[in-house]
Amino acid sequence: MFDKFKLDNKVAIVTGGTRGIGLAIAMALGEAGAKLIVTSRTDKYNGFESLKKSGFDVTFYESDITDPSVPQKIIDYAIKEKSRLDILVNNAGVAQHGDIETYNDNLLNKIMNTNVDAVFRMCRSAITPMKKQNDGVILNIGSISGLVSNIPQPQVAYNASKAAVHMMTKSLASDYAEHNIRVNAIAPGYIKTDMCDLPEENKHWYPVWNQMTPMGRMGNPEEVAAAALFLCSPASSYVSGEVLVVDGGYTSR
Ligand SMILES: NC(=O)c1ccc[n+]([C@@H]2O[C@H](COP(=O)([O-])OP(=O)(O)OC[C@H]3O[C@@H](n4cnc5c(N)ncnc54)[C@H](OP(=O)(O)O)[C@@H]3O)[C@@H](O)[C@H]2O)c1
Repeated sequence: MFDKFKLDNKVAIVTGGTRGIGLAIAMALGEAGAKLIVTSRTDKYNGFESLKKSGFDVTFYESDITDPSVPQKIIDYAIKEKSRLDILVNNAGVAQHGDIETYNDNLLNKIMNTNVDAVFRMCRSAITPMKKQNDGVILNIGSISGLVSNIPQPQVAYNASKAAVHMMTKSLASDYAEHNIRVNAIAPGYIKTDMCDLPEENKHWYPVWNQMTPMGRMGNPEEVAAAALFLCSPASSYVSGEVLVVDGGYTSR
């Protein structure tokens, strides 16, 4: 049974795989035996270095995912260097608080280009080789913010972007099931990463977040990575179109 979590020789791309949730997912997939390609704009936090030190077969593809030409280049790189693509984890994302009245087009474009357009392009480019293989897994990192409107921070654009990720996931799961391609999402609650490292003036949000989470605490990236390993591995062979919530019970209330 536990063999079903093994990923020996599977080729996996993790966007934003150099820190935070993406790094934890890359670690989990690497430990399961996957060959990794991690992407991000920089490795200044040394995530790639730590993956290498862990002894994994790992490559760093330095790139800005919002450049429309980049997603196809990442997929082409995987096919050229590794001859196949088994797993795509669309994890790279950005958050920026703000209510709609103060949200200018630059902010809106940054959120949508990163969280929605780039994910769409990555999926579009990955589908072709996965169809040829008649095999593939896509995992998108959504958010509970795509399911409920979090408080106290106003974040209408981020919430809308993550709802789009969830619907993209369901649509692709339905469209490509006949090609043996499974597409799922994870909707994390509040997870301790740079994204949730609040500036001094917003630190009073933490007690509100903890209070609204039945488990009374924020999650760790590894707690998301465990769910990711399940959804990327044969352990979830009959799961597709699912948005798996990992939120300490937040959305149960
Ligand atoms: N933390 C949470 O509480 C939480 C909750 C729900 C959902 N999520 C989602 O989980 C995912 C990971 O978030 P995180 O908390 O781990 O955030 P994080 O620590 O800020 O990491 C974000 C990652 O995305 C990469 N990235 C951002 N913009 C990019 C771009 N334009 N091109 C390429 N890579 C880019 C970053 O690398 P570079 O900056 O080096 O490019 C970094 O590796 C995101 O999709 C986020 O929306 C997070």
